[in-house]
Amino acid sequence: MISRIEELLRNNRAFVEQQLQLDPGYFGKLAEGQHPGFLWVGCSDSRVPPDRITGTSPGDMFVHRNIANLVVQTDMNFLSVLQYAVEVLQVQHVIVCGHYGCGGVKAAMGHEHHGLIDNWLRTVKDTQQYFWHELKDLGEAARFDRLVELNVIEQVYNLGKTHTIQAAWARNRRPYIHGWVFDLRNGYIRPQTGMINDNDKIGEVCKFTNGIVGGALRAAA
Ligand code: CO
Repeated sequence: MISRIEELLRNNRAFVEQQLQLDPGYFGKLAEGQHPGFLWVGCSDSRVPPDRITGTSPGDMFVHRNIANLVVQTDMNFLSVLQYAVEVLQVQHVIVCGHYGCGGVKAAMGHEHHGLIDNWLRTVKDTQQYFWHELKDLGEAARFDRLVELNVIEQVYNLGKTHTIQAAWARNRRPYIHGWVFDLRNGYIRPQTGMINDNDKIGEVCKFTNGIVGGALRAAA
């Protein structure tokens, strides 16, 4: 019986044959270099493969993934990916994509301890606390969905405030940044923000001026 790991290598050989049938020069062109138009910042969840759900191909998308699609200002891994994508590859769009049913967000909502990952997810707890006025009246399922959306919006804000993005916007108002949520239940992506390429637009969708996309403004108090 073929093992699961052998199956991957067999699939790879089939992939090569299929690509060569379509275009004998395919791998030669791929090896020449990459010019992706997009940086994808997504969750590590196995059910959210960025290329499959967006119909993109090798070479189209530079990718960074971590648990709960977080943009953390001290994460050298992420910051390096971002700088390279924006300054060297000159991507036109950076997409933060979360997903409903996110295990990372769910873990942050509860009170159980999960070990090391609790530190990573602390920022999701902060988001929940910040928006508790909105979340507290929702049922459990709706609150989970809404925190997934708010988490994406917070990461768009964090992304917009990175040195790399601020410097790029000051140069030429690119890239556009976007916050999306993928719905595992039906396969559709639901954008949570418009196209953002300056500090005014980021203020419109993020917490310091509004914080509630598609909903009522917080009551002035
Ligand atoms: Co997730």
